[in-house]
This record gives sequence, structure tokens and C-alpha cells, in this order.
Amino acid sequence: MKTQVCIIGAGPAGLLLGHLLRSEGVDCVVLERRTPDYVLSRIRAGVLEQITVSLMERLGLDQRLKAEGLPHDGFNLADGERLIRIDIAELTGKHVVVYGQTELTRDLMDAREERGLEVIYGAEDVALHDIEGDAPFVTYSKDGQQHRVDARFLAGCDGFHGPSRQAVASKGTEYEREYPFGWLGILADVPPCNHELIYANHERGFALASMRSETRSRYYIDVPITEKVENWSDERVWDELAIRLGPQAAAHIVRGPALEKSIAPLRSFVFAPMRHGSLLLCGDSAHIVPPTGAKGLNLAASDVHYAAAALTAFFKGGDNDAVAGYSGKALSRVWKAERFSWSLTRLMHRFPEDGPFERAMQVAELDYISGSRAAQTSIAENYVGLPV
Ligand code: APR
Ligand code: PHB
Repeated sequence: MKTQVCIIGAGPAGLLLGHLLRSEGVDCVVLERRTPDYVLSRIRAGVLEQITVSLMERLGLDQRLKAEGLPHDGFNLADGERLIRIDIAELTGKHVVVYGQTELTRDLMDAREERGLEVIYGAEDVALHDIEGDAPFVTYSKDGQQHRVDARFLAGCDGFHGPSRQAVASKGTEYEREYPFGWLGILADVPPCNHELIYANHERGFALASMRSETRSRYYIDVPITEKVENWSDERVWDELAIRLGPQAAAHIVRGPALEKSIAPLRSFVFAPMRHGSLLLCGDSAHIVPPTGAKGLNLAASDVHYAAAALTAFFKGGDNDAVAGYSGKALSRVWKAERFSWSLTRLMHRFPEDGPFERAMQVAELDYISGSRAAQTSIAENYVGLPV
């Protein structure tokens, strides 16, 4: 098979890029290892920045997002008795939209046929070849048969564990920070305890009250990275949430059986540069943020925005240099989101190595934030998403 861009991975990054390229008349094919059902079964975050919403708008695939997404004008930071509301709408004139990554992925998947986006599911043993030259190709197997896709560019949208970054691992630099805890998440068909998100720093640890809709809640608590989900019955999770979120929120928590319960590690990671020869990395394949700032999906969207613009300029505008600028543009935004996610993680979690001094710094910072419009604006503009 011959195409202009071969995209590896059909998560949100790969599907968004595929649709954007198709909408510009650029040929592409997407190779995905899993089945559509498997991809949709992964429960991920659910807060969309304007960049992510606007890409769906541009594609004309935002009907369900408009109808079912919940616009949020603010969110809350809690610490003991203190509750600080960050009024993002008032401070930035913008808002975020609560809409599950799973739903966004479903919308992109459902539009494949209508938009002529070819996605090959069940593609095994994907391998990248001749990345440095201008005639790269990808091999894979499916149903016992070997296949080869020749392309002008490859887009690595295959997440943190995919083969794309691994193919160029020796050519770039990895920046990494692991955290000593993971987030235990629970999804349940119960109304949320609050109409806005609450991030709580409690002496027993972090908690987050989030949601997917008016009738579906998503909550998290942090647990030691060595913890096993089997040790956490639903009741134990609800009990812990009620303590950590504080009495006011606890009074409104509605308990229900977990639809999903799992522990995800927290990591900060950047691989730079994000382009090597004819390979562009987008989304989790190039970087990971701890979920505290809700940036993972949104960063994937901004990468894809830059990648689609560069590839379109190459194929449609005859701009041979466009792709060379991709990594610099993408990374400039990535690093700022890394900084924000890391600093909010630092502010809202009790690290095992921390002593009274570090705790006093958290209290002082929260105190400063609660009394300073400038500090709140800084948090709000990062949360809502820095300009693309
Ligand atoms: N061959 C083909 N596809 C692969 C391979 C492989 N060897 N390895 C991984 N993939 C696929 C995965 O199955 C997955 O569907 O690549 C896709 C990567 O999708 P995600 O992990 O969702 O990553 P990305 O699209 O970059 O999305 C950004 O935002 O909320 C965050 O981390 C969260 O997934 C989220 C991310
Ligand atoms: C979620 O709803 O899953 C969620 C929301 C905000 C975050 C992280 C996850 O910061």
C-alpha cells in the first residue's frame, strides 16, 4: 500500500490527525494494534481545553460534544477547611468542557467511513523502517499475512509503549520524573457530589471529585505505587473519598457500584526532539504528564494541530521546511504543560519524603493563591490551556 502519511495508533491523537489530514485532502492510513472495542474500553480523563473542542468543531464532529459536554466555568482546590474556587471564566474569559476521552474517541471512530478515513485494526508487529530518509515504510502483520505501507511521512501516535519512539530512542533525550504514588480511579453511575471539580489535598492524601455527566461520577484518590486495586473494595474507596474531600463534599457523595476501578501510575516524561527524519511523534508517544492538570489528551490535540498544519503545508503548499518546525512548536507548549502539571501535582499531594517544611510551603502557596488574583489567573490560564 502507498500513502502520504502512515499514522501508527488510533487513540485520540491518531484519529484526530487522520481526520484533519483527510479534511485537507492529504492521504493517510492509520494502523492500530487493538480492536475498536478495546480502544473504547480504556477509561481516561475527561476535561477538554478549547484547542481540543475547536479541532472537533473544525472537523464538524462536535454535535454530541456540544449536546452532551458540560461547560465548566471554574474548579476548586481544597485543603482541610480551605476551599479555593478558581473562576476560569471570569479570569480568562474561557471555559473547559467535561466530556470523556472515550466519547471523543467514539465520535472520531464513528465518522471514519463517512470521512473516508481508513483505520486498520488488529495490525500486529508494527515496525518502522528508513525513518531518516524521505521514503520511510511500515511493516505489520494481520491475520497471518505480512503487509507493507510506503509513505512520505510517518506519525507516531502509538502512546507511551508504542514502537515509534522506541525506533528513535537512541537519537533523542528522555526527561523523566516518576512519582511515588498512583491514582486509584472509580467510575460510577451516580450524580456528582459537586457541580464543579474538586482537587483536595488532605493529610491522608490527594482526592479528586470529577464527573462524566450529570449522572456519572469519576473520583480518584492517590495510593502508594505498590498498592493493589484488589485491596480496595468499593466501600473502602467511598469511605476514603468522604474523608479526603471533606465534610461538605462528603455530605453530597452518592455511592454506587464501580463500573471501573483501576490504579494508574503518575509520571512526567518528555522525549525531545519530537521529529526525527520523516517521523513525527504526537501525544503520549512523546510525552506523559501526571493527570493533575488534565493535560494529557489536550496536549495530544495541540501536537496534532501543529503536525496537521505542517504536513498540510508540505503536501498542499509545497513548503518543504514546514515539518522541520514541528518539534520546536509542539515542545514549547508541551514543556509549559509539563511544568503546570508537575507544579499542581506538587501542590496537591503529600509526598512520602516531605517534612514539615514542604508542607508549610504548600500551605503558604495555597494561602497566596487564595488571596491573589494574579496567582489565580496564572492557574486559570494554564488550566484552560495556553494559546496554540
Ligand atoms: N501498533 C499499533 N498501535 C499501537 C501499538 C502498536 N505496536 N502500540 C500502541 N498502539 C496504539 C494503542 O493501542 C492506542 O490505541 O496506539 C494508541 C495510542 O493511544 P493513547 O495511548 O490513547 O495515546 P494518544 O492517542 O497519544 O492519546 C493521548 O491523553 O488522556 C491522555 O494518556 C491519555 O490516551 C491519552 C492521551
Ligand atoms: C477525570 O475526570 O478523569 C479527570 C479530571 C481532571 C483531572 C484528571 C482526570 O485533572
